[in-house]
Amino acid sequence: MLVSPSLLAADFGRIDAEIEMLNRSEADMIHLDVMDGVFVPNISFGFPIIKAVAKRSEKPLDVHFMIANPQNYIGMARDCGATIMNVHQEACVHLDRTVRAIKDAGMKAAVALNPSTPVVMLEDVIGELDMVLLMSVNPGFGGQKFIENTLAKTRRLRRMIDSYGSHAKIEVDGGVNEHTGRLLAAAGVDILVAGSYVFAATEPEDAIRRLKCLGQ
Ligand code: DX5
Ligand code: ZN
Repeated sequence: MLVSPSLLAADFGRIDAEIEMLNRSEADMIHLDVMDGVFVPNISFGFPIIKAVAKRSEKPLDVHFMIANPQNYIGMARDCGATIMNVHQEACVHLDRTVRAIKDAGMKAAVALNPSTPVVMLEDVIGELDMVLLMSVNPGFGGQKFIENTLAKTRRLRRMIDSYGSHAKIEVDGGVNEHTGRLLAAAGVDILVAGSYVFAATEPEDAIRRLKCLGQ
């Protein structure tokens, strides 16, 4: 299992220490949540923070753009150090064009789906994708309850990926802890995003290690 801790739940007053902890940990990447107050009803952080994290991080950056018109920010995402650029299907009218532009810019392309968006929306682009991000909460806030339907949705997506011979990985984001993580591992998830479960733990590195062990 790959693990991508979400910095949204970190203490931004001691961000250096939080990133050092992630560098020491078994985390495979760092998940960054960009929110614009338009696509989602919350505002988080933008490019200066991504750049600062990139400078300190020894892990790849998995950047989740919960913003309108993400196609306008592909060059900036790359220049700020994003490794994976996640855009929402619901925010992209020309999704195929956006996915190709992300890859042409040298990043990995991922598409995120809100809980109400069916996986079939990605059927004609799945061959181009490096990753699909299934939201297991409605995006905008950390600390929400896991939506159970994500388990059946993960299984459907796994079947679709296999039937198209796609190499896309499945990432799930929202309400992930040891319990929901175990269910997701059984459903075929490759990457778990976890915010509060990691950063609210007394020993965040152990919490990451526990998620890493799921699915073995
Ligand atoms: C929610 C964000 C998530 C969030 C997850 O909109 O996309 O990445 O940080 O937080 P938890 O793990 O606390 O549900
Ligand atoms: Zn996220």
